[in-house]
Amino acid sequence: MTPWSLARRSARMNPSLIREILKLAERPGVLSMAGGLPSADSFPVDAIAEACARVMAQAPRQALQYAASEGYGPLRDWVAQRLAAMGLRASAEQVLITSGSQQGLDLVGKVLIDAGAPVAVESPTYLGALQAFNPYEPIYAGLAGDDEGPLPGAIEALPHDAPGTRFAYLLPNFQNPTGRVLPEARRDALVHAAQAARVPLVEDNPYGDLWYDEEPPAPLAARWPEGTVYLGSFSKVLAPGLRLGYLLAPESLYPKLLQAKQAADLHTPGFNQRVVYEVVRDGFLDRHVATIRARYRRQRDAMAAALVAHLPALSHWRAPLGGMFFWVRLPEGCDALGLLPNALAAGIAYVPGLPFYAHAGDPRTLRLSFVTLSPQEIGDGVAVLGRVLREHLDAQGEVAP
Ligand SMILES: Cc1ncc(COP(=O)(O)O)c(C=O)c1O
Repeated sequence: MTPWSLARRSARMNPSLIREILKLAERPGVLSMAGGLPSADSFPVDAIAEACARVMAQAPRQALQYAASEGYGPLRDWVAQRLAAMGLRASAEQVLITSGSQQGLDLVGKVLIDAGAPVAVESPTYLGALQAFNPYEPIYAGLAGDDEGPLPGAIEALPHDAPGTRFAYLLPNFQNPTGRVLPEARRDALVHAAQAARVPLVEDNPYGDLWYDEEPPAPLAARWPEGTVYLGSFSKVLAPGLRLGYLLAPESLYPKLLQAKQAADLHTPGFNQRVVYEVVRDGFLDRHVATIRARYRRQRDAMAAALVAHLPALSHWRAPLGGMFFWVRLPEGCDALGLLPNALAAGIAYVPGLPFYAHAGDPRTLRLSFVTLSPQEIGDGVAVLGRVLREHLDAQGEVAP
C-alpha cells in the first residue's frame, strides 16, 4: 500500500503520446519525421564555446552565483531592444527571462487559471501548452479556425460573464503543429474581437524568425500591449539545451509572474544567460538565423516536392511559409494513429494529430517535421509514407463491397 495520495491536479498530467512515439522513432533505421527538435547541425557550437570561455574568464564567480529572478540585466535589455524592433512597446522592466518559453506557459497558467475557468485554445494547438495548463484545471474552449488561423467570431462567442475567459492562447507564426501563419488582416480582426470581448491574449512565438518566403506581420502584442503576454525563445534559433526563453508582460501582470517564477526555480541559470548574451550582443543572431533559414528552406522545399510526388490523391496539406512542420490531412479511411504501427514497421515515424486537440480532434491528421532529415532522407521517408498509405487504401478497397 502506497503512503502517497496524489493531488487532484495530477490526474490531468498524462504521459505524452509524442514522447512514446519518439522513443520508438529512435530505433536504428527509422527515418523520423516525428520530432519537434531543431536540427543539431544548426547549433552555433563554436560561438557558444567561445562565449563560455569569455564568461569564465571575465566573470566566473558572478556567473556561478545565485542571480536575479527577473534575469540578467544586459540580456533583458537586449531582448527589449529586439522586441521593440519588431514593433512591440517593450521596456526591459517588462522582460522576464524564463527557463524556456515552456516555463513561460506554466507561469501564465499558474497566475491566471483557476480550476474550472475557461481558457481558449486553437484547434489544434501546441500540445506542450495543453500539458502546461492542464494541472491548473481549466475548461478549454476550442477556437474554430481556417487556413488563416482562428476566426474572430470564435473569440466573440467566448464566455463573457465574470470572471470570463482567462485568456486566449494564440500562435500567430508557423504554428506548431499546423505550420500556418496569421495574415495581417486576421491579426487585426482577432485583436479587435479580443478587445471587444475583454479576453486577454497569450501570444507564443518561438518560430517567428524561421520564415522562408517573407517576414511575418507584427505580433499581436504590438496591437494590444496591455492585453497581451508575449512569449519568445532561444531554443529554435540557438539551441534548446540552453533552456532560455523570455516573456514580455504588461506592467499590471509582471509582479505576479515574477513571484511565480521565484517559487518555481528562483531564476534561470545565470551562466547560460551570460553565455547567450555574449553570443548575441554583436548582431550574431541575425547572421546565424539567416543560415538556419537557408538550411530549413531547402528541407521544406524537399518535403513539399516529395508530398506532391508520393501522397495518395485526396490528401491535403499546405506548404508552410516558415517553422518546422507540415500538417497533412489523409484521405477518408486513413486513421493516422491506427496506421502508425505500419509506418514504424516500414521504417518511418510521424506524429498523429489527435494529441494536439484539446477536444475531439481529426483522426486523419498528422504532423511531419522537415528539419532533422536531409533532403534525400525526406524524399525517401515521404515515399515510404506514401507506400504505407496506398497499401492501406488498396487493402480497404479490396474488402469494400
Ligand atoms: C509552440 C511552442 N511553444 C513553446 C515551446 C517550448 O519551447 P522552449 O521551452 O524550448 O522555449 C515549443 C517547443 O517546441 C513550441 O513548439
